Amino acid sequence: MYINIENRLSEDILSQKFKEKNPDNTLYFFEETTSTFDAADTVGLSDGAVICARRQSGGRGRLGRQWHSEEGGIYMSVIKKADMTSSLPLLTAVCAAAVCKALSSHIKCMIKWPNDIVSEDGKKICGILSKTAITDSKSVYVNIGIGINVNTSKFDSSLPYAASIGRLTQKEQNENDILCEVVSEINRYCDMPHSKVTEEFSKMCVNVGKKVRVINYADGKIIEGNCIDINPDATLRVVTTDGDEISVNSGEVSVRGIYDYV
Ligand code: BTN
Repeated sequence: MYINIENRLSEDILSQKFKEKNPDNTLYFFEETTSTFDAADTVGLSDGAVICARRQSGGRGRLGRQWHSEEGGIYMSVIKKADMTSSLPLLTAVCAAAVCKALSSHIKCMIKWPNDIVSEDGKKICGILSKTAITDSKSVYVNIGIGINVNTSKFDSSLPYAASIGRLTQKEQNENDILCEVVSEINRYCDMPHSKVTEEFSKMCVNVGKKVRVINYADGKIIEGNCIDINPDATLRVVTTDGDEISVNSGEVSVRGIYDYV
């Protein structure tokens, strides 16, 4: 399957590279797991732990969807100890900005709010989903689950907007390097002031400056408007067609020209 076997996610290769680039993070490597969310519970939660797998048999996505996790992708969880200022959406946004920055040295990409990374033609190359976990000692940790389609070649027919970086660039990518780069950027972005992160997020966000359609899955209500910015808490600032300014913190946003919304 691989043209160059060194591009394949490998425990051996990572054991040398990962510590050099990210000395403060502990890496746990799995050939296969149900989900890195489950694997994280078995290794014990600690701040900065990174759990990665070459395959997941029960990968989970947003809105209860399945996340197809065949060989060729990176499936990882990054554990962050939560503090008073780090809400789940904000930490997820910090990671989305960091992942987008890391991937942009391989492909032109942007963030589709809240947590997808899309190529310039709107193909989803990465999804992020976070959950909180509480340990026996009652410390609160956030498990940020990141799925990156690096060299993935097969996608479910129900996912017409999914693509891999390898396919889009027509170049097999090095999964080990990308994992190390993503973790380095997450460390860097976590150390930035939140205001700086949301400023950067806003510049990388494909929705800002575009018409958006906010669909509330609970009641099916749709609001249309213009997205004017990202708020400091990572919610979306939208001016509706009626002229009201609202903050969007839930639901699914579609952008004109992306995800079939034209
Ligand atoms: C989405 O639906 O866009 C979010 C996808 C998140 C997938 C990642 S892969 C690593 C982690 N483990 C999972 O089971 N899901 C997340």
